[in-house]
Amino acid sequence: MNTDTVYLNGKFLPQDQAFVPVMDRGFVFGDGVYEVIPAYGGRLFRLDEHLRRLDDSLAGIRLNNPMSHTKWAKILKRVVNENGAGEQSVYLQLTRGHAPREHGFPQNTPPTVFISSNPLTPVAEAQLKNGIAAISLEDIRWKHCHIKAISLLPNILLRQQAIDAGAQEAILIRDGQVTEGAASNLFIVNDGLIKTPAKGPFLLPGITRDLILELAATNNIKYQESSFGLNELQQADEIWLSSSTKEILPVTKLDGKTVGRGQPGPAWQQIHQLYQNYKRALIAGDVE
Ligand code: PDD
Repeated sequence: MNTDTVYLNGKFLPQDQAFVPVMDRGFVFGDGVYEVIPAYGGRLFRLDEHLRRLDDSLAGIRLNNPMSHTKWAKILKRVVNENGAGEQSVYLQLTRGHAPREHGFPQNTPPTVFISSNPLTPVAEAQLKNGIAAISLEDIRWKHCHIKAISLLPNILLRQQAIDAGAQEAILIRDGQVTEGAASNLFIVNDGLIKTPAKGPFLLPGITRDLILELAATNNIKYQESSFGLNELQQADEIWLSSSTKEILPVTKLDGKTVGRGQPGPAWQQIHQLYQNYKRALIAGDVE
């Protein structure tokens, strides 16, 4: 039995009483978009940024946003509070609603709006201490990876391939250029300079990614948004992966080979610390 509170199409109800019709286009076509928003101390992390990215994803699939940001914020906060506030991971999904199965858009069909919230599992201490392993794989996804679409089959297959190889994440390469992880953005560090691929249609504009660059800028840490290939990735002193649920993870093994000195590096230590300080400021109410 799952009695966590979820929001579904205007109602707050226990998860095990929330149902979607089988002809929902999210189910039959993967026709929808989503967001994952962490909450710390019950406060939603970078909510405005997440809602703006949601607007962009919705525009990308030509689905109208049924609610204002104020209304979204109110509903999201209620879901977090009803589930005990604290540290949570909020999942929000919109689909093009339910209709007979036709590829073309249905007319006058309201979207399905779903929100759930689960305790945010902290990153394992061992992963922060020793880093994680990643493998490089060809980026087999479509050409609109900036849209946070619920149709994640390539990402799932790539992540599983990494897991099967004893690694935690797949680092993706498209036309010789590194794009991102299967569910994370990517950074490298060389001689103290942080590099991350520039935004564009081949990667998700990560909220964590943007905050890392913001923290770097305000702390006079040098960074560059530019493309690089597998060779540069293999030669990097440090590799990091970023996401809302895993924050910033150091990668210490790539394709079975040691990255840099084989330990989370000094640049990661610094940015990780700045990130933790930012979270503390959020919990204290010092930042939005
Ligand atoms: N994924 N790139 C991809 C392909 C992702 O799926 C994610 C996050 C990111 C990082 O974005 P952000 O910093 O905004 O979380 C980058 C989420 C967490 C998920 O699918 O569960």
